[in-house]
Amino acid sequence: MMIDFRNSDVIDNPYPYLEELRGANKPLWHPDLEVFLAPTHRDANEVLRNKSLGRIYTEKVPDSEWQVFNWLHSDSILDSEPPKHTRLRGLVLKAFNRNRIEGLRPSIQSITDSLLNRISEGEKFDLIADFAEPLPVKVIALLLGFPPEDEHLLRPWSQAIVKMYEINPPREHQIAAQNAAQEFADYVHSLMQARKIHPQDDLITELASVHEAGERLSTHELIATCVLLLNAGHEASVNGFGNGMVSLFNHPAQRDSLFGDPEKYTETAIEEFLRFDSPLQYFERTATSDVEISGVMIKKGQKIVSLLGSANRDSSVFTDADTFDVTRHPNPHIGFGAGIHFCIGAPLARIEMSVSLPALLKRFPRLDLAETPLRRPTFSLRGYERVLVAP
Ligand code: HEM
Repeated sequence: MMIDFRNSDVIDNPYPYLEELRGANKPLWHPDLEVFLAPTHRDANEVLRNKSLGRIYTEKVPDSEWQVFNWLHSDSILDSEPPKHTRLRGLVLKAFNRNRIEGLRPSIQSITDSLLNRISEGEKFDLIADFAEPLPVKVIALLLGFPPEDEHLLRPWSQAIVKMYEINPPREHQIAAQNAAQEFADYVHSLMQARKIHPQDDLITELASVHEAGERLSTHELIATCVLLLNAGHEASVNGFGNGMVSLFNHPAQRDSLFGDPEKYTETAIEEFLRFDSPLQYFERTATSDVEISGVMIKKGQKIVSLLGSANRDSSVFTDADTFDVTRHPNPHIGFGAGIHFCIGAPLARIEMSVSLPALLKRFPRLDLAETPLRRPTFSLRGYERVLVAP
């Protein structure tokens, strides 16, 4: 029986099912989803890098009333291919340069400290809602120049939109996503216009000035880029941190190593968080011409899925692949993707975690689960709804 990504046992622990898929050592056809699955590290990596496999946005809901949702994707970096992708990515990378990202470190530290200070002494708290979620939301809002008083709008919009990335979203999710896309786009549009009149030292102003200067960034592209950055800038970070912390609590010896010397192991632990229980699991590509992957022919127009979390458990690449090891090195996981769409935010995500992880562990040296964590019922975006912990 082919894997059912909506089955609760699969969502609960997909890894034994994914291991079975890897046994074939080649892409497999999923008859219900009508896509090929690439579960091995070699193939999942190749799918992301092969120039004949594109990330082409095909309208999920072609109706004209769904226009905004559709262009918000087709005009974004993530869902476009060269030459448009090269132009958009170049513009964002310039604004997203290493100095700017590294310069955020003191702000990330103070955001971390203020979140930790808000947690009442001796009381249980939700690691997701009280720490893992607000941290990257505040950082990306700061970087883009999204007003702090409106930060609370970001997460609900983003959550509604990403539900469309799951496999066969139900009608009510589609409607919520469309409404969120419209509101989000309108909001960013008015913010961008305000920044043109009163420029500030932020990314929205910078991107808006590129737009103003000429034809290199259309209004839709500008809005779509900001929305993508705001969404991508926190969704995976929240879940990467949450998944990693739960893995840590479930492996007491690893937990003791990391808590014993947070600074020493932080760098390798972050990569292991993203490998062992990857926050993003499922990325589709479409063949733009016939292409062969490990001897399997993917015909023009057919789809193939890079299964990142499965690739990251491939025992032909990782020794003791099912063992969670915060000292693992090297760690060639593909949790941030590969090829031309490789995550732009990887340096930012790494800095965020390298600041927040040791700060959390030092502040709460005996931190542990207070109850069984509650998983989100989704496969593609893998994370927890709630992780109640006791200090
Ligand atoms: C732990 C955190 C993160 C993980 C695991 C992650 C993972 C990924 C992955 C797997 C892709 C590739 C998607 C594909 O090939 O189809 C990607 C792309 C992207 N990510 Fe991240 N990401 C994270 C954090 C961030 C942050 C903090 C930002 C922004 C500030 C960000 C912005 C982007 C953008 C803009 C793209 C699209 C790049 C392109 O299409 O050229 N990500 N990310």
